[in-house]
Amino acid sequence: PVLVVDFGAQYAQLIARRVREAHVFSVIVPHTMPVPDMLAKDPAAIILSGGPASVYAEGAPSVDPALFEAGVPVLGICYGFQAMARALGGTVAHTGTREYGGTTVNVDEAGTLLHGCGQAQTTWMSHGDAVHEAPAGFQVLATSPGSPVAAFEHVERRLHGMQWHPEVKHSERGQQALENFLYRAAGIEPNWTAGNVIADQIAAIRDQVGDAKVICALSGGVDSSVAAALVQQAIGDQLTCVFVDHGLLRTGEAEQVETDFVAATGVKLKVVDAEQRFLTALAGVSDPETKRKIIGREFIRVFEDAAREVVATEGEGGGEVKFLVQGTLYPDVVESGGGEGAANIKSHHNVGGLPDDLQFALIEPLRTLFKDEVRAVGLELGVPEAIVWRQPFPGPGLGIRIVGEVTAERLETLRGADLIAREELTAAGLDREIWQCPVVLLADVRSVGVQGDGRTYGHPVVLRPVSSDDAMTADWTRVPYDVLARISTRITNEVPDVNRVTVDVTSKPPGTIEWE
Ligand code: XMP
Repeated sequence: PVLVVDFGAQYAQLIARRVREAHVFSVIVPHTMPVPDMLAKDPAAIILSGGPASVYAEGAPSVDPALFEAGVPVLGICYGFQAMARALGGTVAHTGTREYGGTTVNVDEAGTLLHGCGQAQTTWMSHGDAVHEAPAGFQVLATSPGSPVAAFEHVERRLHGMQWHPEVKHSERGQQALENFLYRAAGIEPNWTAGNVIADQIAAIRDQVGDAKVICALSGGVDSSVAAALVQQAIGDQLTCVFVDHGLLRTGEAEQVETDFVAATGVKLKVVDAEQRFLTALAGVSDPETKRKIIGREFIRVFEDAAREVVATEGEGGGEVKFLVQGTLYPDVVESGGGEGAANIKSHHNVGGLPDDLQFALIEPLRTLFKDEVRAVGLELGVPEAIVWRQPFPGPGLGIRIVGEVTAERLETLRGADLIAREELTAAGLDREIWQCPVVLLADVRSVGVQGDGRTYGHPVVLRPVSSDDAMTADWTRVPYDVLARISTRITNEVPDVNRVTVDVTSKPPGTIEWE
């Protein structure tokens, strides 16, 4: 792999993704990892990421110079570039001139790193210190107003560095510079593709599982679906998927899993229709947190019962049920410390902590992948596009989009309104622009309307279209008025009981995406 050494800024994940977009496998390691451990991973190249610190700040992470003597190609970026310059005997000055945002860099000498990148380019910078003198023997490639040395390299020693952030889209030729490093400087073959990921994972899963049996909780979301499809490809009917239909899904979602997904992938599916059980448990409850707790609790109980049945029946003919599939993704692994143990604890908690008689080892076939890669793998495996491109949908489903008590009639009403909103947003080509668009039924609020000749006394619904990268923060999406008008007209005409459509124009924070 290519190792991306994380110096503690938010850029390491982005660098790892860009390397993979160049079809080269990359993994993130902490800067505290000793150099011999890095080399033990047999890296094809090493990239030192940016970081928040000044190389002169107290406790600033430094680089062990041994890293540069191993003959492994190294690219230093921003902080990584300065730390490299310093470790190799160059000078890094704390000038006080900061460069932040779009900065023009002049390329004096393209060398290997900036081959084909042009003479001047707009780049994205974020630094206070600057490299003033390159280490002995290094060639200076570029300069900028605040950086006398904005890029350098030593081709024979296979060491390269740049002050700006090539991983950021605002850096015009950033991806090209990264690819120059990977292909030209490091001589790496770009062969990391969805097809190869699948082949590798299939081999690994077969190896891990042997002739044991495997269970998977399918939610209908992207991650669990792709994970299940991958495991199915590897071990076929040794896998049983369990789909708990809690009755809080949107129109067509259960069918997507029960019919389309099964037809496309051939997975063996056990469907548990638990709608009545959930409705009974939710009867009379309006408090959001109580609803969430009830739904979570019931879900675990239903899944446990189903898992016990699978363990009993599948285990009969030999081959104990020993494994549970989890759709853990790489960002979860990195964010929980990257260590095997840490990630396992976290992902195990995702299934709510199963009881002692149901202890499974985990299979996490997506734990090296980013979301976009999971989608590519899903498409390659033939997972239906409606699932691969599905927008986020909360586990508690429509249960937390009815403000007030959840009843069968209210669910019916909300499903009708939600379907219309989804149809119109899709027809307007807004699916990729909108992160998700909850439709919320204000079941405890009534509003007066007039329809035909008569007065109505119905309920408002709220459209909550949001744009976001990660759901941590979000802005309300400026959906064109004519699209909103169509949604409003259709909902009030076609959905009984709804006589008013409103749009939520609150960003997050202060509003959350969901209403409850
Ligand atoms: P909020 O409402 O906190 O939502 O801004 C952020 C993102 O998380 C989703 N969400 C959930 N997902 N179980 C889930 O799997 C939940 O209980 C849950 N609550 C919120 C929400 O749809 C949004 O994408």
